[in-house]
Amino acid sequence: MAVRKIIRMGHPNLRVPAQPVAASDIRSEPVKRLIADMVDTLHDYGGIGLAAPQIDEPLRLAIIEIPGGESRYGKIEAMPLTVFFNPSVEVLDPTTAGYWEGCLSVPGLRGFVERPQHIRVNYTNGHGESQSLELQGFWATVFQHEFDHLDGRLYIDHITDPTKLVFEEEFNRYLNN
Ligand code: NI
Repeated sequence: MAVRKIIRMGHPNLRVPAQPVAASDIRSEPVKRLIADMVDTLHDYGGIGLAAPQIDEPLRLAIIEIPGGESRYGKIEAMPLTVFFNPSVEVLDPTTAGYWEGCLSVPGLRGFVERPQHIRVNYTNGHGESQSLELQGFWATVFQHEFDHLDGRLYIDHITDPTKLVFEEEFNRYLNN
């Protein structure tokens, strides 16, 4: 398939809410090709999630793949590549915790964002089946970050302390300990 260009902060289309994918389109060839492109793009750029609007496709579609093991987020569980159509997030507990987030559409920066840490995600999978996942901690943050892209939001919108928006190099030098 093809590695696509990821559009970056400042591109107006990152700020436009995406359109739902019709049930009849979920298993269509164009959507399968789009998913294949998203997987290639995610692997080429290196990341744990990608939303369709990030490659300038205005659809409510995202992929997430978490390698697991030791990472800059500490020790995390793996999640195999999963496709999410038309996801919605329900907060089960509004208690928040913060993580330093990064985004392929905001390259070179890290920002500290607090989000609810216990959510339920309802979505349609690649076979057109309704699914539900309950998520806590780091995973809850990852999913909220990805699905924000479907509503035209970026993680920087959630930063409450502007001193905690930093360059990656300085993050690694001064803060990642
Ligand atoms: Ni992102």
